[in-house]
Amino acid sequence: MASTLNSNPLRDPRDRRLPRLPDASALVVFGVTGDLSRKKLIPAVYDLANRGLLPPGFVLLGFARRDWEHGDFAQFARESAEKGARTPFRAEVWDRLESSIRFVPGSFDDDVAFDKLCATLEELDRSHGIGGNAAFYLSVPPSAFPVVLKQMQRTGLANTGGDAWRRVVIEKPFGHDLGSARELNSLVDDVFTPAGVYRIDHYLGKETVQNLFALRFANTLFEPIWNSQFVDSVQITMAEDVGIGTRAGFYDETGAARDVLQNHLLQLLALTAMEEPVSFSAETIRTEKIKVLRAVSLPDDLARYAVRGQYEQGWLAGERVAGYLDEKDIPADSRTETYAAVRLGIETRRWAGVPFYLRTGKRLPRRVTEIAIVFKKAPHLPFDQTDTAELGNNQLVIRVQPDEGVTLKFGSKVPGSAMEVRDVAMDFLFGEAFTEALPEAYERLILDVLLGDATLFPNNAEVEESWRIIDPLEEHWASTTPFRYRAGSWGPTAADEMLALDSRRWRRP
Ligand code: BG6
Repeated sequence: MASTLNSNPLRDPRDRRLPRLPDASALVVFGVTGDLSRKKLIPAVYDLANRGLLPPGFVLLGFARRDWEHGDFAQFARESAEKGARTPFRAEVWDRLESSIRFVPGSFDDDVAFDKLCATLEELDRSHGIGGNAAFYLSVPPSAFPVVLKQMQRTGLANTGGDAWRRVVIEKPFGHDLGSARELNSLVDDVFTPAGVYRIDHYLGKETVQNLFALRFANTLFEPIWNSQFVDSVQITMAEDVGIGTRAGFYDETGAARDVLQNHLLQLLALTAMEEPVSFSAETIRTEKIKVLRAVSLPDDLARYAVRGQYEQGWLAGERVAGYLDEKDIPADSRTETYAAVRLGIETRRWAGVPFYLRTGKRLPRRVTEIAIVFKKAPHLPFDQTDTAELGNNQLVIRVQPDEGVTLKFGSKVPGSAMEVRDVAMDFLFGEAFTEALPEAYERLILDVLLGDATLFPNNAEVEESWRIIDPLEEHWASTTPFRYRAGSWGPTAADEMLALDSRRWRRP
């Protein structure tokens, strides 16, 4: 009988298709009344609860400056879930969750408020049996990291006795250059062990980004041509139609390169270019990503191969939108870039000579993130030249968002013609191939933190390597003024000229 049970895959405890439930635990969110929490974290917690992926002993404990009573916070949290959740709102799920929600008001430098937070956590431990387990989410501006970490050290929040775990989740930006990232890393290391630190890069939580692992390492088709022998170049694009919204203060100090190139785009590059990991574990994947990041080189000629821009007023989706300098709270003489493009190299046997073009920008014509592998042209074409005049390079395009999927572009004979060959596309769409809707990145990442799975979180070495790449760029740009581009266009013409220098063109996604 026992053997029948064991042979049933649904009952096999190692079956990875079965959802794993985290230990009973608390998620403590610092800065819980902020934008990230309202738009992403609370909705993600609700979605996890709705999917039955939170343990029965789960509590959400919020900390923020607002002088709120429990009822105010409960209402804020409910509205956030109703508005932002991916899955349908069900009152019975929310009511259950709400009974495990608490709020402690206070500022980060207030010892009394922090002591109250500790006492509340202990109380919840007794009432909900969370066994001392807690993850602390720092949804706070980087300037507040030190004070929050020091408070956690003072109050002993980072430590527990016995088997209980304590983890910390840090939102980007992880510093603003290599020096400050190192300082931040050592600050965090003083309080938590490296295994307890989860640095969030939400792009790694996107299903389509994880699909890169499947595409590359679960198939035989692509890997043999995934190298400089066959690949001409790689283009990684993260375009946004939105402007800077209400984040003027943060954005003007940060700019596009620090905001997304240093993290999201370099992570996409690392996953695209890394070698096959020996297993699918946090340590082995990080090892391969770090190797690639270490091999990344900047061009000698930054003046030509690194372009930054700032949007001017223009039109988007039929609406007139303001230029960056006219946005609320942006200084009229700001030289912060809202667009960045750069050509990187990877000095390894696999990639030597293949340019990786990265670009990102706000107020571009549409929101699209994609990785395009552009293959070399066939070495010889046994056709009349006019027959292949319309034939481009073969391309494999991984669409991260929207229209999540993969497109293969190749040449095909035009029906009826003598032998005319033209580009056609073969499309895979997640939405058509699978019935399940794609989970939100934060859903996946919060669950992973509670499960103690660090596979999708960059470690301190990756962060520092990324700054090693970005710092010289920032230094170069510090003495320049960004090119202007019209809102609703694909960025400054200098970025097109940069590719033209290499006889290439940006894709128009
Ligand atoms: C964030 C950046 O990390 O990513 C924002 O700080 C950007 O400026 C956002 O808008 C984009 O995320 P997504 O998931 O909408 O592509």
